[in-house]
Amino acid sequence: MEIFSVRALFCISLSFVLGATQKGVSVQMFPNERTTLDDCHLRFYKLLEEPEVKPAFGMPVPLKEFAHMGAIGWSQVNGTILWQCGGTLIWNNFVLTAAHCAVDSSNQAPDVVRFGDINLFSADDDMYAQQLKIAEIIRHPEHKYASYYHDIALLRLEKNVRLHDTVAPACLWLDDEIRFRKLEATGWGKTGFAEEQTPILLKVVLEPMPNDRCDEVYNQENTRKLRHGLQDQHLCAVDDRMDTCEGDSGGPLQVKLMHNSKITPFIVAITSFGSACGTSSPGVYTKVAPYHDWIVSTMRKKGAKVDENTYNSTICALRYVHLREYDDAVITLKEVDFTSYNSDLMRITVINHENHFVEIYWENDTRDDCHGVIIDEDTVLTIAECADSKGVPPTYVTYLGEKAAPIGKIHVHPGFSRNQPYNNIAILKMVEFLDLPIPFQPSCIWHDHDIPETALRAIGYGRTDINEFFYDGDKAVLDATPTLLTMSSTIFNESSCVLPGKYSKMQLSREHLCIGNDIFLVPDSCLLLLGSPVNEYKYVEDRKYHVTFALSQFGRDCGFGEYILATRLSSHIEWMKSVLLSAYEDTVSALTFFDPDLHEDSRCETGTGTEGQCVPIANCSVPWRQLKFCSSSKIVCCPLALSYNPQRNSMHPELLACPQMVRKMKRSIPPASMVIIGWSTKSGIKFRCLGSIITKLTVVTSASCLGRTVPQIVELLGEGESQNARLVIDGILKHPDYNSTHHTNDIALVKLRIPLTWGEHVHPTCLWTNLTHVPLVMNMVFPDREHPVAFEHVTAMYNSDCQRTHPLAVQSSQICARSYNRPFTCMTGIDQLRWDSPTGESYLIGLAVNEPECSEWRYMIFTRVSSFLDWINANVF
Ligand SMILES: *[C@@H]1O[C@H](CO)[C@@H](O)[C@H](O)[C@H]1NC(C)=O
Ligand SMILES: *[C@@H]1O[C@H](CO)[C@@H](O)[C@H](O)[C@H]1NC(C)=O
Ligand SMILES: *[C@@H]1O[C@H](CO)[C@@H](O)[C@H](O)[C@H]1NC(C)=O
Ligand SMILES: *[C@@H]1O[C@H](CO)[C@@H](O)[C@H](O)[C@H]1NC(C)=O
Ligand SMILES: *[C@@H]1O[C@H](CO)[C@@H](O)[C@H](O)[C@H]1NC(C)=O
Ligand SMILES: *[C@@H]1O[C@H](CO)[C@@H](O)[C@H](O)[C@H]1NC(C)=O
Ligand SMILES: *[C@@H]1O[C@H](CO)[C@@H](O)[C@H](O)[C@H]1NC(C)=O
Repeated sequence: MEIFSVRALFCISLSFVLGATQKGVSVQMFPNERTTLDDCHLRFYKLLEEPEVKPAFGMPVPLKEFAHMGAIGWSQVNGTILWQCGGTLIWNNFVLTAAHCAVDSSNQAPDVVRFGDINLFSADDDMYAQQLKIAEIIRHPEHKYASYYHDIALLRLEKNVRLHDTVAPACLWLDDEIRFRKLEATGWGKTGFAEEQTPILLKVVLEPMPNDRCDEVYNQENTRKLRHGLQDQHLCAVDDRMDTCEGDSGGPLQVKLMHNSKITPFIVAITSFGSACGTSSPGVYTKVAPYHDWIVSTMRKKGAKVDENTYNSTICALRYVHLREYDDAVITLKEVDFTSYNSDLMRITVINHENHFVEIYWENDTRDDCHGVIIDEDTVLTIAECADSKGVPPTYVTYLGEKAAPIGKIHVHPGFSRNQPYNNIAILKMVEFLDLPIPFQPSCIWHDHDIPETALRAIGYGRTDINEFFYDGDKAVLDATPTLLTMSSTIFNESSCVLPGKYSKMQLSREHLCIGNDIFLVPDSCLLLLGSPVNEYKYVEDRKYHVTFALSQFGRDCGFGEYILATRLSSHIEWMKSVLLSAYEDTVSALTFFDPDLHEDSRCETGTGTEGQCVPIANCSVPWRQLKFCSSSKIVCCPLALSYNPQRNSMHPELLACPQMVRKMKRSIPPASMVIIGWSTKSGIKFRCLGSIITKLTVVTSASCLGRTVPQIVELLGEGESQNARLVIDGILKHPDYNSTHHTNDIALVKLRIPLTWGEHVHPTCLWTNLTHVPLVMNMVFPDREHPVAFEHVTAMYNSDCQRTHPLAVQSSQICARSYNRPFTCMTGIDQLRWDSPTGESYLIGLAVNEPECSEWRYMIFTRVSSFLDWINANVF
């Protein structure tokens, strides 16, 4: 048999670490029994936390907002130019405008287009201006000057523009559906060209309006030119502020779409005709989408290298990404010709993986759009909609990229009805623990209705190229690889929430969380993951935890433009508790009722055949829900061995005096209260067990470690190599009920022949007497080769946590603990669970239960010393 277990990982010499409690951390206690789901900061306590240092970036970028906007001019004989129409650069040498801009009122054609100039009448900003000659004007073949149909034309320029931040083509909005609530018209003003008061480019925000309502306004005024009324090619939009003009004829009606944390203008329509400035009448615009084929084929005929994919939104957005302005969210400083940005502020972040997130699948792949969040090592939360596909439940989840795990039981909220966004939540219990990285923290559940944040993160999915942050100076490369994305999303209240499509009229209730971003995205660049967590990292004291606030139900384009509706977890805590703490619920309903004859201190029958005593709930280490009540709900019938009454068996004076005495002593190092226990063999003494000194004559160890033979020698670890270190053993006492197959009552006392003398190098370990709580962070102490003893921090867990993987019934006289840094444990019954109080005394809390071999469990079981105080008191030497 190996004398000492070798544990290479995390062994730190006791002499310089033990005794120092974790710096800056208050002593936290962990209860034996689980009654809340809001315990994840304790249950999955983080032992270490590296501070995170965020990088900061800053770079100047020039103003780019109007880089596609051109002024169309008519050169006059006296040398001046009259700017009478607007146009949009859509290719290096093509401008899109209205067909009626092909001639002016005196039937003259325009001859120049000017770009990169915000103030046409000032030379101050002319350094970026580019003015090019028009080589050819191509009106739509069906356009007639006498009507308002097909009012669209292309201008071919004499040569290519010089692509620059200030001069760059726009993209085209090619979808028939226009769901933008706001559109922008830009222009130098309809009547403002020649007038000094409106020399600079204007931006007007307009709201689209249905064509039939628009018809009513225009029928009378424009019957002649609109014989067939407004048609699908027309878009109506109105400026409800009434004080600005609709923009120039021929100029763009546009929307700015986000991608790569940049903004690209997409031309939705061309200004066709409108009413005079200062009225609230809508303007009429020619939609671009119906003319896509004509635009591309015309340009191609005229020599441009374009095809049907040129204006594909993704490809077009990426083509000029290096010339675009940044999204306002990342801009930290914006001046006329200088912008600095910080990529940490981006709204969409490409992430490689999300530890807390799973994909949910069906055996026959009937569905692949469902996701969930890991809230425990064997538990996933998702939306109820994801609990079936045409009546068939999902069969497995994948997580951390490639791992898969079968789903066991599925619990759907009983209040959920299909296709209703209420009570849309479900719990998936896994068949086995997920194989999670160490150290691992499942996501915590946010319990409050109120959320202190203004923004949370949702999870989506999309191609890499269109989503990753674009740093100026980078080169855009097409990369369709799909990737996970997180979207920083603002929280909206029920009156400000804008939901997509069929949900737009929905009444939000208290269980709904609405989050999103006002800006729209380049279409198809981000898909919201259903059932995925709405989350944020939060600090509890100085430790960062992943917290889930809600589960995404739906949201188009990842909640950009129109928002995401999510199920708040805080509204469903009671239901989750009823499922996840079900043992707790079951035992509550099975409670046995009071017996008026049983008063405090009376002997009673526990219900499991053993003798008990009526004691206050706090005096019994067994969870009260597993017990019978005596005369009231405050007194329980506690098994005799598990109740503690210092009066009944007055505590041994040495044990009672321990904390005070040790606190006053001059102490050297913590091993001073420990021994190793040895057996004489032919080849010398073999040390095999660790013991804690509790009185001058008594050492505590586990019965399983002692085995069948009696040891002869203890060595005082505080004495080092000195002559005084070795002492003779007089005898041992194992607990009479020690059960070697079930590892219960695994405790033993070792009696020394000659009493110890307390001193700097030898003093007792005090006994932990609290029956209901243990310190959250404890030291698991074990001997190792290089040091007399080494230790590792472990954290307390509930016995019910251990029970999930433990083959034998975990007793209430045992303690469950978790190794923070290791996926499994290898205990040999040597280890002891101790705690060093900030005031300097060491407490013995647990004794390792002998495991026959290394077990791949994340959890360890110890004999709970406080459950045996009566036996120790009665037998201490
Ligand atoms: C040039 O001619 C236009 C009309 O053709 C006129 O409006 C403008 O005032 C003239 N400008 C100058 C400086 O003469
Ligand atoms: C745009 O191009 C991308 C990449 O080639 C393609 O995946 C997508 O389907 C295209 N979109 C449309 C609307 O054709
Ligand atoms: C999956 O498909 C197989 C073969 O078609 C069928 O036998 C099985 O019942 C299906 N499983 C489920 C869960 O529908
Ligand atoms: C909802 O949010 C809007 C915008 O932040 C705010 O003006 C309004 O007062 C809020 N309404 C309620 C009921 O809180
Ligand atoms: C319960 O414990 C307290 C001290 O922790 C003690 O004073 C009291 O006597 C105990 N009660 C019984 C019935 O054992
Ligand atoms: C150990 O405990 C189990 C379960 O209580 C019992 O069945 C078994 O007989 C016990 N073994 C011994 C040696 O007492
Ligand atoms: C045990 O510890 C808990 C938490 O610190 C405390 O509230 C409780 O009073 C303690 N119990 C006893 C009997 O001292």
